[in-house]
Amino acid sequence: MGSRQNYSRRIQNDKNTFIKNELFRLKKNNLYRRIKIFDIEKDSTLKYKDINVYNFSSNDYLGLSKSQKAGNLNKIIQRHISQCSSRLISGSSSKIKSLEINLSKHRNTQSSLTFANGYMANLGVLSALGGKDTIIFSDELNHASIIDGCRLSSSQVNIFPHNAFSDLEKLVRESCVKKKNNYNRGNF
Ligand SMILES: Cc1ncc(COP(=O)(O)O)c(C=O)c1O
Repeated sequence: MGSRQNYSRRIQNDKNTFIKNELFRLKKNNLYRRIKIFDIEKDSTLKYKDINVYNFSSNDYLGLSKSQKAGNLNKIIQRHISQCSSRLISGSSSKIKSLEINLSKHRNTQSSLTFANGYMANLGVLSALGGKDTIIFSDELNHASIIDGCRLSSSQVNIFPHNAFSDLEKLVRESCVKKKNNYNRGNF
C-alpha cells in the first residue's frame, strides 16, 4: 500500500512539474493568455476594469445581436449570454466568472473553467494536456469527443478493449519499457 501511495505521489509530482514547465515556456515566449473580464453595457460598449471601451473584436459582423427584429430575445442574449466573441478576446463576462467561482466552491477545486458543451471540454483539455511526448491510454468505446481530442493533441494513443484493465496494465507496462529503452538508446 505504501509503495502504491508513493507511486501516486510521484505521478502527481511529475504531472505538476510538466504543467509548471509548460506554463513557464508559454510565459517566456509571450504565449500565455489570460481571460479578461468584459461586461456589455446598455449602449453596447464594453466595460473593462471600470473603463468603457468600444468593441472592435466581436464576431457580430452583421449586427444581428442588435437587430430589432429579434426583439426581447436579443436583449436577454446580449445582456446575459453572448458577447459575440471568443472568451480569450472580449467574450468573457463577470457572470461567467462568478459561475466558475461558484462551481469551484461547489466542487472544492482551486479554480474551474466552463465550456459550451462536453465535446469542447474534451477537445480543450486533451489538446492542452497532450502533445507529441504524451501517451494516452484510451478505452475503445470512449466518446467521439475523447477520440477527436486525442487526435488533436498529437499524442500517441494506445487503445485497449472496453473496460479491460489487465490489457490496460499490460499496455502501460510495455510503454514504460519502450520509453526506458529509448532513453537508454539516447544516452548511449
Ligand atoms: C462521456 C461523454 N463525453 C462527452 C460528451 C459530449 O457532450 P456534449 O453533448 O455536451 O457535447 C458526452 C455526451 O453524451 C459523453 O457522454
